[in-house]
Amino acid sequence: MKAEESKFSIFSKRKTADTDPAELKIPTHLAVIMDGNGRWAKKRMLPRSAGHRAGADNLKTLCKNCGHYGIKYVTVYAFSTENWSRPESEVHTLMELFVEYFDRYDPELEAEGIRVRFTGDIASLPQNIREVCKRAEEGSKHRDRMTLIVAFNYGGRREIVQAAQKLAEKVASGEIRSEDITEDLFAQHLYLPDVPDPDLIIRPSGEERTSNFLVWEGAYSELWFSDVLWPDFGMKELTDALIAYTKRDRRFGGLSKEKKDEE
Ligand code: FPP
Repeated sequence: MKAEESKFSIFSKRKTADTDPAELKIPTHLAVIMDGNGRWAKKRMLPRSAGHRAGADNLKTLCKNCGHYGIKYVTVYAFSTENWSRPESEVHTLMELFVEYFDRYDPELEAEGIRVRFTGDIASLPQNIREVCKRAEEGSKHRDRMTLIVAFNYGGRREIVQAAQKLAEKVASGEIRSEDITEDLFAQHLYLPDVPDPDLIIRPSGEERTSNFLVWEGAYSELWFSDVLWPDFGMKELTDALIAYTKRDRRFGGLSKEKKDEE
């Protein structure tokens, strides 16, 4: 292969599992809105619950694929604070899947070196769900290849409100003054203050919005959308997203390197 071809090969037609991670800019933290399970099931004349099951299975695939690329943090949106308004039977299916999932797949998560954490209003969830969270977090604390963060009963606005409440309590008790509240201090009161902000947020299924996901943390995330439904989102789609991300110029409100050099 000519030198020129090899330099630009990731931007050409080669978009498969054999794309060399060394040619890509790899996000430290990838976040995914797992959307399209219902439509996936409908297309196959299956109940929505089958779509959610297929979606949960595909989470394993995502973890493996992210491991291949050396992504350190992967956050997935599994249940939002708004999802309680779905029919009771669907909420029940999602809760059941959640309870099953982490015990059943723990050996695979262990084999892949995946630590599991949760983000969301976990304290308001039923006790059996809280116990699952505790068990999965405690049992995987030692794993350090990748961290899978499952957003469950998560809402970005609720997260911000709860951070504001914690700060208000500290002001009321005299521990801090209102003028001590900075963006950094605020961020320290979010659910997972030690986790870096997501670099890239992916939403499959053709919808182009972030739906109350990582509202604070995603302020400067790159966004990537795909028409593929979540249960079909595989290595090809992840690779396409990473190729697009590699080409993005992240300026965080500043100037690109080229523009700075022009000055
Ligand atoms: C949105 O698709 C998907 C959800 C509300 C649930 C996502 C949950 C999973 C993939 C299961 C995760 C499970 C575990 C154990 C972490 P939708 O059903 O709204 O799709 P539609 O827009 O096509 O109807």
